[in-house]
Amino acid sequence: MLANHKGTILVTGGTGYIGSHTCVELLNAGYEVVVVDNLSNSKRGALKSIERITGKTLPFFEADVRNRDTLTRVFKAYAIQAVIHFAALKAVSESVAQPLQYYRNNMDSLLTLLETMNTCNVKNFIFSSSATVYGNPNSVPIDESFPLSATNPYGHTKVMAEQILRDLAATDTTWKIAALRYFNPVGAHESGLIGEDPNDVPNNLMPYIAQVAIGKLKQLKIFGGDWPTPDGTGVRDYIHVVDLARGHLAALDTLAKRNLGFTVNLGTGRGYSVLEIVRAFEMASKRRIPYEIVARRAGDIASYYTNPSAAQQVMSWRAAYEIERMCADQWRWQVNNPHGYLE
Ligand code: NAD
Ligand code: WQD
Repeated sequence: MLANHKGTILVTGGTGYIGSHTCVELLNAGYEVVVVDNLSNSKRGALKSIERITGKTLPFFEADVRNRDTLTRVFKAYAIQAVIHFAALKAVSESVAQPLQYYRNNMDSLLTLLETMNTCNVKNFIFSSSATVYGNPNSVPIDESFPLSATNPYGHTKVMAEQILRDLAATDTTWKIAALRYFNPVGAHESGLIGEDPNDVPNNLMPYIAQVAIGKLKQLKIFGGDWPTPDGTGVRDYIHVVDLARGHLAALDTLAKRNLGFTVNLGTGRGYSVLEIVRAFEMASKRRIPYEIVARRAGDIASYYTNPSAAQQVMSWRAAYEIERMCADQWRWQVNNPHGYLE
């Protein structure tokens, strides 16, 4: 019998922030989805929310992507046509404190996954890379031709992963691989049912501001007011997580149509300063965000935003949502889930 869907996608890290939003978009677009996640930085509750939003169920394997036996079982049980690989540890400061944990987790999971895919003859692969591979670029906007020069163990795992993927594709041209370099994903699904659910005090700006707005945190510390930027605070390219999720569907479609893989930046091309984000969030939440300008954070740089044209040319994709929508959706998630997922 002909399958009545667009095909089955394995999503590793699918109960995580970006993975859960991508599962929703895949299911809504008519794909079948299988999730493998070890719940090291997410909760099972995300699955219930995905099913509630889409009205569809999805098989879930609570497992480490480094577990070759479980991965093999998944590929034998489902006609996986492509893999989107989100599963990784992603906290820069934690990677500096625990480099071996990051190399072991992020590199072993990638290698085990690629070897299992090879054995099972599944060779369409989308990799979660990061703008962090650009390190401290000489100028902005950043485009895909910029040199790669990560400045922390987490960023090095992404640079190394991309090198592994380039070598693999060069040796075996039946692999079709897309590396997507995300800038700063923020926001949440409009339902308020899925969102970013940090385990403890958020490292990233937007979830931190949301917790100040709701009163969970006292005030925002702005890391540096003397950067060479219009208002002296750091500038970043914030992209709505749903736009980012839809970028993965565009990447799947593009891989299906062309015989070559590609690497693209996923961002809006518009940089916003910390103070601009504070003001936008105050407008969205109608709450004041008390802040104090303190010393710069080690490893930070002044300004980071992409030239978005490659993703537009290669995948006919561009981000649609503005900063107001990003803040409004982040706030709704925060209000609806003051303690994140309950299970
Ligand atoms: P997240 O922590 O919410 O999701 C990652 C998921 O992977 C979690 O559910 C975690 O439990 C799972 N996981 C980690 N190691 C695993 C393993 N060995 N086996 C099975 N599951 C494992 O993070 P996210 O923000 O959704 O990021 C997803 C991907 O995007 C990551 O690869 C990250 O490096 C990349 N990325 C994130 C950002 C960002 O700012 N959020 C920016 C650029 C790139
Ligand atoms: C944004 C801006 C801070 C918190 C990080 C990782 C990167 C990627 C995305 C995984 C900066 C300022 C922040 C705070 C602040 N993750 N800030 N007070 O550093 O651009 O990128 O997340 O791939 O690898 O490096 O994001 O949200 O931490 O910071 O002033 O409490 O907000 O200085 O200018 P960043 P961020």
